[in-house]
Amino acid sequence: PDKFTIAIDGPAASGKGTLARRLASQYGLHHLDTGLTYRGVAKALIDADEPLDDVAIAERAARALDLGALDRAVLSAHGIGEAASKVAVMTPVRTALVDKQRAFAATPPGAVLDGRDIGTVVCPEADVKLYVIASPEVRATRRWREIEAGGGTADYARILADIERRDARDMGREDSPLRPANDAHLLDTSEMDIETAFQAACKLVDARL
Ligand code: C5P
Repeated sequence: PDKFTIAIDGPAASGKGTLARRLASQYGLHHLDTGLTYRGVAKALIDADEPLDDVAIAERAARALDLGALDRAVLSAHGIGEAASKVAVMTPVRTALVDKQRAFAATPPGAVLDGRDIGTVVCPEADVKLYVIASPEVRATRRWREIEAGGGTADYARILADIERRDARDMGREDSPLRPANDAHLLDTSEMDIETAFQAACKLVDARL
């Protein structure tokens, strides 16, 4: 086959991003963090002083988004994740971004995409699907450590509350809610370090190569 697709879904701070990057580098595949596309739309609206819930304006921003110009350093700010989950409930925004994500996945030799709806909506024919979870407490602790390690200060209770609110919005929305595809492999990283999770994922990929 001329392309191989790995779909990785899961909630915020589950470890799916690190896993996706490592798998892409291990198998020589492109990598797209699709969360950055929703974040890019949210950031464009914030910068232009536009509301986050105007469908026509948000759709235009989504259509104008250039996948090649997404800057992780700017877009990974904590508050942008919350704004991204608001623009992500709008179907016209999702349709525009999913088109771009599918075009990315179609480029040989294929790609690892991580997000919320990759295995269910964006790439339902993916060769390998992983659904990565961890308890909200473990995820909040990871976020907290990341922020502290970067020299910032963070409030654990607030991070946990943010994570739970974002989970609820992502799992509860009508269009493309966060849920495992029927044929996804579940990886619970609550008590598993990233190396162990990576080894487990490689076994699943190797079995499909
Ligand atoms: O993964 P990340 O935290 O960067 O995603 C930000 C937000 O973008 C998520 O909370 C979710 O609402 C939205 N998203 C989505 N579908 C994806 C990826 C992200 O709805 N495939």
